[in-house]
Amino acid sequence: MGRGAAAGALLVALVVLGAPPAAGAELSGVFQEMHKVECYFINGTEKVRFVQRLIYNRLQYAMFDSDVGHFVGFTPSGDMNAKRWNSDPALLEYKRTAVDRYCRHNYRIDAPFSVERRVPPSVSISLVPPSSSQPGPGRLLCSVMDFYPAAIQVRWFQGQQELSEHVVATDVVPNGDWTYQLLVLLETPPRRGLTYSCQVEHVSLEQPLSRHWEMPPDAARSKMLTGIGGFVLGFVFLALGLGFYVRKKLLSRRRPQPLPLSPG
Ligand SMILES: *[C@@H]1O[C@H](CO)[C@@H](O)[C@H](O)[C@H]1NC(C)=O
Repeated sequence: MGRGAAAGALLVALVVLGAPPAAGAELSGVFQEMHKVECYFINGTEKVRFVQRLIYNRLQYAMFDSDVGHFVGFTPSGDMNAKRWNSDPALLEYKRTAVDRYCRHNYRIDAPFSVERRVPPSVSISLVPPSSSQPGPGRLLCSVMDFYPAAIQVRWFQGQQELSEHVVATDVVPNGDWTYQLLVLLETPPRRGLTYSCQVEHVSLEQPLSRHWEMPPDAARSKMLTGIGGFVLGFVFLALGLGFYVRKKLLSRRRPQPLPLSPG
């Protein structure tokens, strides 16, 4: 990972209600104290930054940043508290060691489920039916579903040749369950007799994954072929049946007689 920064945040929120929220009753006041801690990882755990934010009623009044090394206040009460905390060497030492004690420690535990999480995509090609705005034989859509992480490359090919024009893609869409999806549409209509391929490259795949598509034979032609096939099959059975019938007739007679066929 280069400057791949993963941030983990722990949120502690304390809401004090001025009165119990009885049905329909107005609250007499809301007092919210919120502490947020953030870990920034640059190139794995090589460079780590720890940030703690202290927020009262949505206003950040003080923070500690490991790159700064002490508390900084943003309001009169924040200033006052920052001075008090900064005069406590043990507390400052405790906050300064959070990059190791808290961030690097949790990275080891969480990385297998987050940074190292790999889910390969399911890839399929479908023919989007023609519409009034886009008449004709339809358009090819490559659906790349349920992969993780988000970085991915999807390409369309016609035979061996990459189609870089007339290709439109959605953004990479988060599904909200730690997977993503992406749809890539070929804007030009597919032509009969050509093979189209959708190729996907993703960190979860050892080699690029390809799906292929060819236009199925058209319905009228395939119906005609079925008819011809049926006719031929019927004819074969007719000939066989007739052959057996004639053979049996011939063998059942002691002395062969001329067949009752028309002369010639
Ligand atoms: C990332 O960290 C590794 C050691 O973990 C180091 O060898 C590499 O040079 C670092 N890369 C960058 C881009 O800093």
